[in-house]
This record gives sequence, C-alpha cells and structure tokens, in this order.
Amino acid sequence: MTADSKTMDFKKAAALKAVSLLRSGMVIGLGHGSTAIFAVREIAELIREGVLKDILGIPCSFQVEQEARGLGIPLTTLDEHPAIDITIDGADEVDEDLNLIKGGGGALLREKIVAQASRREIIIVDESKLSPVLGTRQPVPVEVVPFGLKGHTAYMESLGARVRIRRDSDGEFFMTDHGNVILDCDFGPIREPVKLAEALKSKAGIVEHGLFLGIADDVFVSGALGNRHMVRGKGS
Ligand code: A5P
Repeated sequence: MTADSKTMDFKKAAALKAVSLLRSGMVIGLGHGSTAIFAVREIAELIREGVLKDILGIPCSFQVEQEARGLGIPLTTLDEHPAIDITIDGADEVDEDLNLIKGGGGALLREKIVAQASRREIIIVDESKLSPVLGTRQPVPVEVVPFGLKGHTAYMESLGARVRIRRDSDGEFFMTDHGNVILDCDFGPIREPVKLAEALKSKAGIVEHGLFLGIADDVFVSGALGNRHMVRGKGS
C-alpha cells in the first residue's frame, strides 16, 4: 500500500466516524476537500439504504453542491435553514486546542459561514494535519477582493507574512466561488493566533481568513495508531 493510499484510508476512516453521529431529520453542513468528500459519499449511501431519512445538506462550495446533487442528497440553503445541526469538514492544520487553519481548497469563506451557523462543527483529518502550533505546516489562506490586490499583499507582508498569490493549473489567479483571490500567507509558527486573526480582519478588502479559532467542537483524527476523538475544552 502506498503512503498516498494509506492517507486516503485514514481520511475515510475519520469521515466514517463523524458520519456515525448523524441522525435522521438533521440539517447537515457538507464540507469541501478530499477528506470531507468521503463523508458526503457515505451520507449519500446511508440515504440510499434508508438508514438516514429526511436529511438536508448545505454545501460549502459549488463543487460539493454539484457532487451532492449527483449523489442524490437533498439540499437546502442557509436562508431556508439558518441553523445547521452538524457540519462535517476537513482542515489543513489542527492544534491541540482544536484551532484550525482551513482554506487549502479555496472554500474558506463559505466554510466559515457554515461553521458559525452550525450547532456542532466536526472536523475530520488524517494524522498529518496535527500540529503543535498553527502555521508550522501550512500558510494561512486569506481571501481578498481583487481590487487593490497589491495593497492587500503589502499589508500581509507588514504583518510578517511571506505571501504567494494562489494560482490555478493554467497559471491564472485562482478565483474563489465568490470571485475573490486567495493570498497564501506564511507567517511561520503563529504564537498569538487571536491577535493575528484580529489584524487580518482590520483592513478593507480582506474578505475572510483561514484561521478558525474556537469554532471546531470535535476533531476525528485517523492514523497509523488508530482513531482519536478530540473534543474542545476536554483534551482527548
Ligand atoms: C477547503 O477550503 C479546506 O478548508 C479543506 O477543508 C482543507 O483544505 C482540507 O482539505 P483536504 O481534506 O483535501 O486535505
């Protein structure tokens, strides 16, 4: 078995643990990314089998929306259902306090809106995402409006980041579902994430950032040593 296929197995194992908490009648946030998609597929399977009934999904991206529709998951919107029972989503980096970096897949804005509307935000990751200090492994994605891009980049640099404008496979600027650009901001290990999050919100044109602090309720981690369930405020 290759390292990649092992990682995929871990992602799937974490997804299945989270899906086992879903019940009929729930409104469910459908996360974006290669881990969350395992949850989406499992939800569709359980609906087909009649195990989960009267489920409504709210996707975190256009891509997930298409996938969920294709799999026959009934969908709704946040305007119709402003309170989500459980959201299952992935993450790029997770610390011991269940703070996260998200947005590697470019869907951080909707992911954060959906997460904040959720009674319970469940994060599913393979063990490679665990980190002692956020920023050790991943840059922080920051979604900005294209207008004034150089100024947004300079602002990130003034906060100490090495900044890369995200590009797609054609070398063009990666555009989010909302027509914005992503700056991948490498701050190195982030000792004061709350302070940084405040600074990131204090310039016009910055739409949202990928620091998810105090948002995740549970994290399911899967790895070589098995599964681990981390709960906010309770250790694991
Ligand atoms: C999407 O914008 C991200 O927040 C994803 O949740 C994150 O990048 C994890 O992705 P994978 O599950 O593909 O590793």
